[in-house]
Amino acid sequence: EQIEKGGYEHFMLKEIHEQPTAIKDTYRGRMLPDEGIIRMAGVDDNLERIANAKRILIVACGTSWHAGLVAEYIFEELARIPVEVEYASEFRYRNPIISEKDVIIAISQSGETADTMAAIKLAKEKGAFAFGVCNVVGSSISRETHAGAYTHAGPEIGVASTKAFTTQITVLTLLALKLAKQNGTISHTEFMTYLQEMERIPSKIESALEGDEHIKMIADIYKDARNCLYLGRGYNFPVALEGALKLKEISYIHAEGYPAAEMKHGPIALIDEEMPVVVIATKKGHYEKVVSNIQEIKSRKGKIIAIVTEGDTEVRELADHVIEVPETLEPLTPLVTTIPLQLLSYHIAVMLGKNVDQPRNLAKSVTVE
Ligand code: G6P
Repeated sequence: EQIEKGGYEHFMLKEIHEQPTAIKDTYRGRMLPDEGIIRMAGVDDNLERIANAKRILIVACGTSWHAGLVAEYIFEELARIPVEVEYASEFRYRNPIISEKDVIIAISQSGETADTMAAIKLAKEKGAFAFGVCNVVGSSISRETHAGAYTHAGPEIGVASTKAFTTQITVLTLLALKLAKQNGTISHTEFMTYLQEMERIPSKIESALEGDEHIKMIADIYKDARNCLYLGRGYNFPVALEGALKLKEISYIHAEGYPAAEMKHGPIALIDEEMPVVVIATKKGHYEKVVSNIQEIKSRKGKIIAIVTEGDTEVRELADHVIEVPETLEPLTPLVTTIPLQLLSYHIAVMLGKNVDQPRNLAKSVTVE
């Protein structure tokens, strides 16, 4: 097992650090900037069917559901196709309205999650076209879908999902770009800008990973917190949910993710000097609005840990701690802003002496209801 961990203390840490390579493996052979195209066999063979979808339904559970939420923003912005993201467990039991013009996308690391599998079967029966985004090759969901694209992240052993999440977002971004190109909802120049930026993402994740020691220091300060709030807007709202889930899963600290603007409809009541609030406040992404959310937290004495764009000065003045990440195109920001949140949870869990790779009560793959 020590050999499998490749010198890292835990699988989770290894998998966090594997993300630059995993993402390259996800887009390798698919993204061809020189030819100005994206090639994905499962999509190319069904391009008209998928691009003409009246609606895209995304079903998933856990972290994969968060990747689905990111995809919703990307699909709608780039490909202008309406998207609905559903917990597979809810979708399957509510007699959902599904038409033959719908495309349903199942996102699943393991490809074995029972609820996601049942949702796909149901949508297929009603005539929808089913597309799978799985990591495990040959898994049940990958076999049950009409077509799909593997994430090629390599085996993920840590129960808390890390590289599966960022590679799912990568595949879904490629898919969105392909559909956008097909439907003419983005220009060729924009398309090429995304491809070129996608190629820079692995090195941007490398620089985000360099914040590790600083993040460890922050973890040490907040490891004894009883609660923690995560806030983000737009593309970073699902990142806030995912950050909170990571902390809950492995450190057993109660954490909640919220869209930053919803804070005033409830969570603000919880804020006092005991409450750490992790705010994703990168440039673009409604930056000024998030800054005013930060001011509201500060005036209630909440402790602010802000994820900011490199070189930011405004949030630095307000926050108790800042963690910098490189700037990228807005739809790609989740790929970098997620990294410090994974590291923060990891270090807190290790400091609390928790079983990081196999947290209590959780399973890597949930094959029963
Ligand atoms: C379990 C795992 C999570 C995962 C979820 C969905 O709860 O512990 O890490 O996100 O299942 O799994 P899937 O394999 O369908 O992505």
